[in-house]
Amino acid sequence: MILVTGATGLSGSAVIREFARQQTPVRTLVRSSAKAHDLELLPTVEVVEGDMLRPRTLADALSGVERVLLISSADQQMLETQCAFIDAARKAGVRHIVKFSGLNSALDSPFLFTRMHAEIERYLERSGLAWTHLRPSQFMQVYLREVPTIVAESALFLPMEDAKLAPVDVEDIAKAAFALLHTPGHEGKSYEMTGPEALSMTEIAEQISLAIGKTVRYVNISQVERKRALLAAGVPPYFADALDAQGSERRKGAEAVVHPETHATLQIRPTTFAEFALRHTAAFRGESGHFGVAWGMAQK
Ligand SMILES: NC(=O)c1ccc[n+]([C@@H]2O[C@H](COP(=O)([O-])OP(=O)(O)OC[C@H]3O[C@@H](n4cnc5c(N)ncnc54)[C@H](OP(=O)(O)O)[C@@H]3O)[C@@H](O)[C@H]2O)c1
Repeated sequence: MILVTGATGLSGSAVIREFARQQTPVRTLVRSSAKAHDLELLPTVEVVEGDMLRPRTLADALSGVERVLLISSADQQMLETQCAFIDAARKAGVRHIVKFSGLNSALDSPFLFTRMHAEIERYLERSGLAWTHLRPSQFMQVYLREVPTIVAESALFLPMEDAKLAPVDVEDIAKAAFALLHTPGHEGKSYEMTGPEALSMTEIAEQISLAIGKTVRYVNISQVERKRALLAAGVPPYFADALDAQGSERRKGAEAVVHPETHATLQIRPTTFAEFALRHTAAFRGESGHFGVAWGMAQK
C-alpha cells in the first residue's frame, strides 16, 4: 500500500488526482475527513484520519504501508511534524519515504523552509528507511495568489527586480511523485525539478496577458511594500520574514537555473508557463476560485 500525506493541500491533492487518473489504489492521511469529501469520491482512494504530530493517531493510516509520499504544510511545525511522522513510519514497518522537499535544499539556506526541508532530508537519510527527495522549484500555482491585483489593477506587484525564476506546474510534480512511487531505482536519490524556462516577472506578466487577452504589467515594488501587503493580507509575521529572505536569494539569481533532468528521466512533458496560464484563464480573469492557493494556506 502507498500512503500520501498532505492530500487536502495544493500539491497533495494534485498527487491524489494523478493516482485517480492512473486508476491506482492509494491511501491518504487527513487531519479531518470533513475536508476530504472530494477525495472520498475518487474510486481508488482510501481516506484515513490522523495527525502527523500525534503518532498515536497514525496506526490505521500506516498499517500495511510500504511506501509514503511525505508532504505537510510550510509552517513553523514542519520540521517537528515530518520528523515525528518519519519515526512513526519506521516503527510501523514502512520501507521507503519519498520526501516532498524544495529546490536548493541546504542546511545553511537563508530561507526558513528550505533549511527545514534540508534538516528533514538529513533526518530521513539517517532513519534507516529508504529515501528519495523530490525538490520542486516555486509552484506556477503561486501566481494565482496575485489574482486580486491582476483583476483590480491589471498588475503584478512583486519585489523581484529583473530576477528570473523557473516555476514548475504542480501537475508535473504530481506525475513525478507518482513515478517515483511506482518505478524502481530512485532510492537514495534527489530530484531537483523546475519548469522548462527561467522567466522574469515581466515575462510572466506577458504570459498571463496573452492568456487572458488583457495587458497585465509587472510593477517592481520594494521588499518593504511587499511585506506590508502580505501582513495586510493576514500572512503571519514569521512567514513574511521567511519570504523576505527567500526574495533576497531569488533576486541574486538563486532560482534562475532550469533543471529539465527530472522531467526527462521520468518521461514527463514539461508544462510551460504559457500553457499553465491558458489552463487557468478563468482564474486569472477572476471568474473562478483559485483553489486553495490563497495566502490563508500559509497561516496554519
Ligand atoms: N509553494 C511553493 O512554491 C513550494 C515550492 C516547493 C516546495 N514547496 C513545499 O511543498 C510542500 C507542500 O506545499 P503545499 O502548498 O502543497 O501545502 P498545503 O497546501 O499547505 O498543504 C499542506 C497539507 O499538509 C497537511 N498537514 C499539515 N500538518 C499536518 C499534520 N500535522 N498532520 C496531517 N496533515 C498535515 C495539511 O492538512 P490540513 O488540510 O489538515 O491542514 C495539508 O493537507 C511544503 O512543504 C512546501 O514547503 C512549496
